[in-house]
Amino acid sequence: MDLKLQIKPEKLPRHIAIIMDGNGRWAKKHGKPRVFGHRNGVKAVRETTEAAAELGIDFLTLYAFSTENWNRPRLEVDTLMKLLVETLHKEVNTLMKNDIKLQAIGNINKLPRPTHKALLAGIERTKNNKRMTLILALNYSAKWDIVQATQKIAKACKEGLINETDINDQVFAQALSTGNIPDPELLIRTSGEARLSNFLLWQLAYAELYFTPTFWPDFRKQQLYEAIVDYQQRERRFGKISEQLVP
Ligand code: IPE
Ligand code: IPE
Ligand code: MG
Repeated sequence: MDLKLQIKPEKLPRHIAIIMDGNGRWAKKHGKPRVFGHRNGVKAVRETTEAAAELGIDFLTLYAFSTENWNRPRLEVDTLMKLLVETLHKEVNTLMKNDIKLQAIGNINKLPRPTHKALLAGIERTKNNKRMTLILALNYSAKWDIVQATQKIAKACKEGLINETDINDQVFAQALSTGNIPDPELLIRTSGEARLSNFLLWQLAYAELYFTPTFWPDFRKQQLYEAIVDYQQRERRFGKISEQLVP
């Protein structure tokens, strides 16, 4: 049976987060340099975004560059940053056409100027779009996020805007870079690696984790449907027992 038809619209996750991994190994498999894998990853981004919007997902977060990724060879980092500029310039029209709003999380001020500029331009141009929000995690690290949230809260305390006893998990969640965005119900990681690599540690506290051996450049609509069908078969108990759950 068609996988897409197996998806129950009433049980869709509102927010899906994806660790797009395996570009380098995909390129190696094809006897090409690593950056060839990154270039081919763009197609997967386009298809996944389109599929998520068509299904009616509200938020899609893509881990595109981690704080740790600066430690890669200079040529690879430079190419990735240029590819981002190129892709943002090209794809913003598609986002407009599909009514998708672009946002970013991460320490984006530290991105190279052209990348930062292209990103801000994309965010500005798509800011009134309503169908879905596409969030790019760029120069992102969950530990950075938690630290910057803590600094924000400490400052608010110092300025007398809040009391330390008012700090609870809502206040903390609000101070994270994901502020008003609901936590992802589903996390997908491609390429067979089963780790979080410093991604959304707080926000993924109760997410369903889905690992697939598919390398990111091979990820298409069908692979997204597979992940969602798998997610919908899971029982999310949040600490309760099965019998307590309303069907
Ligand atoms: C993910 O693919 C893309 C980024 C981290 C930017 P990788 O480049 O990590 O590919 P592998 O894991 O080396 O195969
Ligand atoms: C995580 O992938 C970061 C992104 C997908 C952007 P990596 O390939 O950098 O993760 P590690 O280093 O293998 O954990
Ligand atoms: Mg990797």
